[in-house]
Amino acid sequence: MRILFLGDVVGRSGRQAVIEQLPGLRERYALDFVVVNGENAAGGFGITEPILTELLDAGADVVTTGNHVFDQRETLVFIERQDRLLRPINFPAGTPGKGAGLFKTKTGADVLVVNAQGRVFMADLDDPFRAVERELEACGLKTGTDAIVIDFHAEATSEKEAMGHFVDGRATAVIGTHTHVPTADEQILRGGTAYISDAGMCGDFDSVLGMDKQEPLTRFLTKIPTGRFAPASGEATLCGVAIEVDDQTGLAQAIAPLRLGGRLSQTEPAFFAEP
Ligand SMILES: [Fe+2]
Ligand SMILES: [Fe+2]
Repeated sequence: MRILFLGDVVGRSGRQAVIEQLPGLRERYALDFVVVNGENAAGGFGITEPILTELLDAGADVVTTGNHVFDQRETLVFIERQDRLLRPINFPAGTPGKGAGLFKTKTGADVLVVNAQGRVFMADLDDPFRAVERELEACGLKTGTDAIVIDFHAEATSEKEAMGHFVDGRATAVIGTHTHVPTADEQILRGGTAYISDAGMCGDFDSVLGMDKQEPLTRFLTKIPTGRFAPASGEATLCGVAIEVDDQTGLAQAIAPLRLGGRLSQTEPAFFAEP
């Protein structure tokens, strides 16, 4: 099974990159399953239902989120009817939406996707480790599903690495999101779980984390807000990771970064070159 994960989509330029490139990538790489983090897709803050539909139509099987999930108030309502939109699983009990789901690929394989959020330098949510553990117990690799992808939306690389080791050998992949800058630590952990601290964003890197750089810079210099944050509008780099899954075990055989378009150095997963 071939899985592609794309990091936080930021604003219009990030959306455009996904919409323009994902259909071609699905075909070229013969992808079985695609997860896209859409928490910054609507003007940098949250996601709307039409934007969710655009991402799904472009070829995302599931859209994950993070701390910005409810920045657009309408999401509190439509998340209940949109099965393919996840929010962090460790939000307080009673929060609209869900943090995990079991989805089918076109060939009939099952993929469990779990979206969890870290607590270091972030909101004081429920324990993400226990929340992920409950999902793995309920739906294990090869007992309940053919693959397990965990989007761990967290600030601290320590917490992300710890999550990777916590589920090593029990999940297909732990992919970090939220910090928007791709890290160079993609690897297969000892037990067979693919890991990266951050997939990077789908957004314009001539920016501060995808936002037009002037306002963030002004706030660092003066501590005085002079306007709103707005997404940078230059060409986005599509950032993510590709994972080749061992269909016998459900564990990962390979993980490689994908960076296409925009300002970052370009890279494509070599193991997908010949489907
Ligand atoms: Fe984000
Ligand atoms: Fe975030």
